[in-house]
Amino acid sequence: MEKSKIVALAPLAGFTESAFRRLARELGADLTWTELTSANFILARGLEGPHFHIFPEERPLRFQLQGSETRLLVKAAEMVIKRLRPEGIDLNAGCPAKKVVKTGSGAALLKDLPKLYEISRALAELSHTYGCNFSVKFRLGFEKDELEKIAETLLKAGVDLLVLHARTAREGFSGRARWERIRDLVKLAGEEAFVFGSGDITSLSELERFFEETGASGALIGRAALSSPWIFKEWRDRRPFKPSLKERLSLLEKLAAYLGVYRGPEETLKVLKLFAPRLLKGVPGKRKILPLALRAERIPEFWAILYRLEEEADANNR
Ligand SMILES: Cc1cc2nc3c(=O)[nH]c(=O)nc-3n(C[C@H](O)[C@H](O)[C@H](O)COP(=O)(O)O)c2cc1C
Repeated sequence: MEKSKIVALAPLAGFTESAFRRLARELGADLTWTELTSANFILARGLEGPHFHIFPEERPLRFQLQGSETRLLVKAAEMVIKRLRPEGIDLNAGCPAKKVVKTGSGAALLKDLPKLYEISRALAELSHTYGCNFSVKFRLGFEKDELEKIAETLLKAGVDLLVLHARTAREGFSGRARWERIRDLVKLAGEEAFVFGSGDITSLSELERFFEETGASGALIGRAALSSPWIFKEWRDRRPFKPSLKERLSLLEKLAAYLGVYRGPEETLKVLKLFAPRLLKGVPGKRKILPLALRAERIPEFWAILYRLEEEADANNR
């Protein structure tokens, strides 16, 4: 297995904020991604607030933009590059959510290839001016698989990195991601662009099989990173890792500490409540204790309840 393959934390709206990106990097992710942010939002509200916090430790970072108007996307991208200095700019051309598609952005761009070309070309040119590289994260097509036409469009536009979630937008998250189409994309891209693939990689053995079967330069880990972020450590060490309950709780504590740097206690607790059920997946006693922790109104109360999981585990082992 080539050592130089990249394993990245995928963009996951609502989850991959600064604190979790930092945790993923610490565990061994080579690269992180921001969730999609609309160009209109940036132009209207600026780049203030927790959403735009970046720790140096979470770099290299790709900043993902969503939009449908070239001029606005270019303006927003320039603000992001100048202010946040991400290592890469990424265009979302894969989000199938209704509220995104109805604005002509996300996966809707796959229905209008001339527009996808125009936007990609303009963003590639802008990114290159600032020494940033440019990627597009997309799906196989909107209704049906039109990978060849889409790839040709993006390569012609000068995109440096093609990132394929190997399903159509219509499929949402159903069925299996078609890794063989990622292999096809690697062949289509040749020496012109790098290819990263996304979809259904949930373990170290699948990561290894993904690289063998596709020949891609990189892999994105999405949903699996939420319940087992140590998948990055497993990749780094090339061996499976089974965290103890203590280790899982200490990851959650680390997340809390990182969140506390840029979020107040109430918001921190809210985010912790999103991660706790995922990070504690499969832990004995979770069914009884987690619902109580999710009702906690203060952080100390949250921890006091969660640490009862350790007592449960001790009682079970006795
Ligand atoms: C909750 C959630 C939020 C997501 N948000 C984004 C996003 O903001 N931008 C994006 O390009 N993809 C987004 N995705 C897609 C993922 O990046 C990834 O391509 C997809 O989940 C397939 O990979 P997986 O099987 O490893 O999860 C999201 C997926 C999920 C489940």
